[in-house]
Amino acid sequence: MEFCGLEAPKIGRLGRPPRCLGGGPHSRLRTRPANRKPRSTVREPRLHYNGINMIRFSTAGESHGEALIALISGLPAGVPVDLNFVNRDLWRRQQGYGRGGRMKIETDKAHVLSGVRHGKTIGSPIAIEMVNRDWKNWEEKLPVEAGDAAKHQAVSSPRPGHADLAGALKYNFPDARYVLERASARESAARVAAGAMAKLMLRELGIEVLSHVIRVGRVELEREAQWDEIVAVAAKEEVVLACVDAATEARMKEEVEKAARTGDTVNGVFEVVAHNVPAGLGTYANWDERLDGLLAWTVMSLQAVKAVEIGRGVTAAESFGSQVHDPIHYAEQETGRPTRFTRPHNNAGGIEGGVSNGEDVVVRGYLKPISTLRKPLESVRFDTRAKTAASYERSDICVVPAAGVAAEAMVAITLAGLAAQKFGGDSLMEMKRNFDGYIEQIRRF
Ligand SMILES: Cc1cc2nc3c(=O)[nH]c(=O)nc-3n(C[C@H](O)[C@H](O)[C@H](O)COP(=O)(O)O)c2cc1C
Repeated sequence: MEFCGLEAPKIGRLGRPPRCLGGGPHSRLRTRPANRKPRSTVREPRLHYNGINMIRFSTAGESHGEALIALISGLPAGVPVDLNFVNRDLWRRQQGYGRGGRMKIETDKAHVLSGVRHGKTIGSPIAIEMVNRDWKNWEEKLPVEAGDAAKHQAVSSPRPGHADLAGALKYNFPDARYVLERASARESAARVAAGAMAKLMLRELGIEVLSHVIRVGRVELEREAQWDEIVAVAAKEEVVLACVDAATEARMKEEVEKAARTGDTVNGVFEVVAHNVPAGLGTYANWDERLDGLLAWTVMSLQAVKAVEIGRGVTAAESFGSQVHDPIHYAEQETGRPTRFTRPHNNAGGIEGGVSNGEDVVVRGYLKPISTLRKPLESVRFDTRAKTAASYERSDICVVPAAGVAAEAMVAITLAGLAAQKFGGDSLMEMKRNFDGYIEQIRRF
């Protein structure tokens, strides 16, 4: 997966254009050959996720291929890497009431190939492999070489709600097999592995990222969740629907059971909370560097997420301003946080003007119901165009807790990228020194 849009011009180490365009001794204008057109000094609109973030990441792999790969680079050297932490997140992504059979086949484990030595990052790209244990059943159906065409397992009718039809048309495939292989949310396991690395870096700065479920179908958590409750939910050894309230979770479970009984599917809303984020990540200075915009993009890029909300963005749209905006107070005593500015509530979700404001960053993802139905919707055959039922492959019924874990990864990678951009540093020691200096600066503000 690549977050690429318009191509970015070359940018400096700190994610900004080099400052030396004005004719100084290091000016690129001076060294440019006379016959080349001078470059515009006006920054053109651009959209290139990996270009504006110091931390770059991508994934490779298919649902029934040999392995998934996560590649993440830009983390400073010296970040302690706890593989149990990475594997725990991979496990959390596989949990939840309503998951399908695949979760019983796969127990994802991170196999780090590069970038970590003696338990710490070394500043080089980190490659992580997660083998697909089901590969042995697919080796002949999906070989890398030409193989035996008779063993190919075609997806002969596109499934509504999936990339099947659009992907087959786009890539000129005779059926949807290859589309499904890559569009599947199996890919999100690789995001979680990369995200765990980003979390490990953030943890060194005191920042934690977790999620919980606030809605399944029509059942909604009707109160705010406290950070300690979210921590407790994430620490559970048995994940039902990752809701902080047991009674609400039981009713959520009934929603999933109802869907299962009728051959239907159901999803809902997760909430990701990034705790202890200092004020100052992201900026209003350029549209493509706003924290809210970046989070909307990265969380929306997850399979099945169809809307992203920052803080109380949705209900804010139907409320008066006096009910929404978070007043600013100043505490008489130290708050235990970098500043004594306090907010009685956090409807803004920790972001104002595209900049983190020192409150918890709160991002919600709204998931459409799973598209593969045991009672399939109408479709047509790719070969004959005859009316048929959509293809069915083993499928989940509800994935809200798992999607929340994948979204944690996207939020962590986004915040880690902005933290690396702001604080810089090739080693963790250097980054922490810069971070501590900044925290001291806002403490004294
Ligand atoms: C963790 C997770 C697991 C998923 N599992 C399934 C599944 O088993 N079956 C299914 O039809 N869709 C599943 N989805 C959703 C599809 O991947 C997604 O709807 C589909 O690829 C189309 O993409 P879109 O919904 O973003 O348009 C899952 C999504 C997530 C986040």
